[in-house]
Amino acid sequence: MTIAELYESRKDDPRLNTSYPLHPEDWAKYRVEGPLPFNDEKRLSFYIHIPFCRQLCSFCEYTRMLCPDEGRQESYLRTVANDIRHFKEQNHGFTLMGCDIGGGTPTALSEKNFLLLMEVYRNALAGLELSAGYEPSIEATFDTLTEAKLKGIVNAGIHRLSLGVQSSCDAIMKRHHRLGSDERQMSDWLAMAERIGIKKVNLDFMYGFQGQNEASIDRDLELIGHLHPHQVTLYELRTNMLASNASLSKEALYDQYSRYYDGIIGMGYMGRFGQNTFSMDADDFGVSSYLRERMINGASYKGFGLSAQSMSRAGVSYNVGKLSKNPLEALNDSGYREEYTYLLPSKELVAKYMAISAYNGSFSVNRLLELGIDKGFLDERLGFCFSHGLLSRSENDRVVITKTGFAHYGAVFSLFFGDGD
Ligand SMILES: C[S@@+](CC[C@H](N)C(=O)[O-])C[C@H]1O[C@@H](n2cnc3c(N)ncnc32)[C@H](O)[C@@H]1O
Ligand code: SF4
Repeated sequence: MTIAELYESRKDDPRLNTSYPLHPEDWAKYRVEGPLPFNDEKRLSFYIHIPFCRQLCSFCEYTRMLCPDEGRQESYLRTVANDIRHFKEQNHGFTLMGCDIGGGTPTALSEKNFLLLMEVYRNALAGLELSAGYEPSIEATFDTLTEAKLKGIVNAGIHRLSLGVQSSCDAIMKRHHRLGSDERQMSDWLAMAERIGIKKVNLDFMYGFQGQNEASIDRDLELIGHLHPHQVTLYELRTNMLASNASLSKEALYDQYSRYYDGIIGMGYMGRFGQNTFSMDADDFGVSSYLRERMINGASYKGFGLSAQSMSRAGVSYNVGKLSKNPLEALNDSGYREEYTYLLPSKELVAKYMAISAYNGSFSVNRLLELGIDKGFLDERLGFCFSHGLLSRSENDRVVITKTGFAHYGAVFSLFFGDGD
């Protein structure tokens, strides 16, 4: 197949987005026993997964469960703390570039356990060298915040809070079993967060829902204008792991993104077309340092907790619980070891990097070469994309998606995945 034919054949494939592999089983032949090696990694980020939520939104692809009783919450946190201690005993000499606490909903924990989580976080940092740009972040929902939790976050030295709104359309949220907060409540919480010492707030919105339309997007934009967060993240609904085939056409997704983009940029946020994060601050990309390292620089990260993903120069791993039908049953006191560890050849590392890069709509050519991409293969793909106006060169060694390319960004980024087979 020529590159042009390959591109045409993939343009409307709903599975091609930021996910890779399309199914973990695609990597079965690379699977090995034991943990993922992090040999000689000089720069590393941590991710701590809290799989508990107050509600189970039906659109959500993450490993999560309804928040269990306080005893089980506590034993989960103590187990994760043990895993972190163990990892630090085995791995030395790295600078910690970032640490995100996500989920699930970390703030769904009881107040007592949330403060324990903050202690687990502080202990995770103990004895490590932090990078100059280290900026930790924690995920939350408005309905699970309390004053004590906000104080705990700030006292632990975390100043970036990422909150999910998804959509201001009640009908769409109810259809997905998500109970939202009203504008007044959100605005009160943001004022309190700022008073307590949170310096950056990010709000997550999603597009690609059935029923989302110009009017509902305009209401979301109005809400952003009123709440005025420092950063906004726009997630395209991924339906790869969801039972229902709910995805919209690529054209509809493009139109929805464009409407959000124009509105967000019109309010003074900075961000390139095709990027999913927007910021009021010209010096950041609208992300925590964990995400900056992971998405933009393709650096290594170690995930702790149920089903968390890790990536090093050797491969990718997923902790216990990734494929559990019932994640509650995967909770245990003995540790969330890396159950699926894949030592990957360079073409698979390249593909994983490209899929993650799609969030930012850009990638580094040098990083692809470091990961071992074949130079001829790379030049051929780049040549095709440049000459068809799908990608363009940016500053340094970066290549960015164009407006034309973004209409089928999954197909564009997938051209670099492998042999084209
Ligand atoms: C790990 S979730 C946790 C955030 C928090 N529990 C909440 O619901 O606000 C982080 C973000 O992922 C996004 N998300 C959830 N399900 C998604 C899906 N199927 N496709 C794309 N983004 C999704 C949402 O915007 C959500 O805020
Ligand atoms: S979107 Fe957030 S609250 Fe909803 S199920 Fe997913 S992690 Fe939980």
